[in-house]
Amino acid sequence: MAQYPVQRLRRLRYNSILREMVMETKLSKEDLIYPMFVCPGTNIKNEVKSMPGVFQLSIDNAVKECNEIVNQGISAVILFGIPEKKDAVGSEAYNDEGIIQRAVREIKSKVKNLLVVTDVCLCEYTDHGHCGILSGEDILNDETVNLLAREAVSHAKAGADIIAPSDMMDGRVSVIRKALDYKGFTKIPIMSYAVKYASGYYGPFRDAAESTPSFGDRKSHQMNIGNINEALREAESDIEEGADIIMVKPAGAYLDVIKAVKDNFGMPTAAYQVSGEYSMIKAAGRLGWIDEERVMLESLIAIKRAGADLILTYFAKDAAKLL
Ligand code: PBG
Ligand code: ZN
Repeated sequence: MAQYPVQRLRRLRYNSILREMVMETKLSKEDLIYPMFVCPGTNIKNEVKSMPGVFQLSIDNAVKECNEIVNQGISAVILFGIPEKKDAVGSEAYNDEGIIQRAVREIKSKVKNLLVVTDVCLCEYTDHGHCGILSGEDILNDETVNLLAREAVSHAKAGADIIAPSDMMDGRVSVIRKALDYKGFTKIPIMSYAVKYASGYYGPFRDAAESTPSFGDRKSHQMNIGNINEALREAESDIEEGADIIMVKPAGAYLDVIKAVKDNFGMPTAAYQVSGEYSMIKAAGRLGWIDEERVMLESLIAIKRAGADLILTYFAKDAAKLL
């Protein structure tokens, strides 16, 4: 590399057009997936206290919101359901008339040019708030996986475009893949939450989805925050089981993990900028302590620069306005 005074790295920074032309990592609307919370009833739009600008929406309002999203140039949403009733085995998760199944049917029939991803887990549907069925205080892995496969098939029957298992049970990708294929859904991709940490950043989501566990935590299935070798093993096993897209979650505090996963496997890689990441930026922005727009874009560019091809973010609409 030439040295100063021949080399002057500032030369490409003086002019804003030039700066933009040589920007290495750019965010585009196609990178973004917008998470939505769907609840029973009609004409409901409840703002989530800890997530300003994020709402629990009844299906009619969710359809409206999806139309707006498409108009803003966003091409995918991921849906979370708040069921009519909860029980010990999360029956509503795999009920063909459940909240997500009805929402998907409505959205797919009324909104064009939108990919609908569905989150597959039991925690929103169990009365104890855990991601699977329990024996005492243990989550039963294999029994849970069978129910997750039923949930995935039920979502696919309703018209889901992509299935996204978020539970972190062992072996669920392979069981879900087999179940989808057996029912003829060979073309439906799986975006697995392959590397999901037991994170404090999920707090606001649990308000939004009403899925806080009634006792204990999720540390027997979600990953230890200190581990990165294990992250690669999780990603590798999901890839071997048939995942089409692998996800790292949360995003901002795990940029090293996103990079390691992308570099090691070269797979389409998604990162979830989770509820707590959103709420912190929103809160500091509201207090006037940071410039919300700038920090939002900076956080998203950082996630992409680390190696994410796709970003699930509650900022999708706000970011799309600026892109
Ligand atoms: C369900 C699920 C969670 C999130 C996505 N899917 C919550 C959890 O694991 O407790 C978190 C998303 C967010 O915080 O935005 N298993
Ligand atoms: Zn869960």
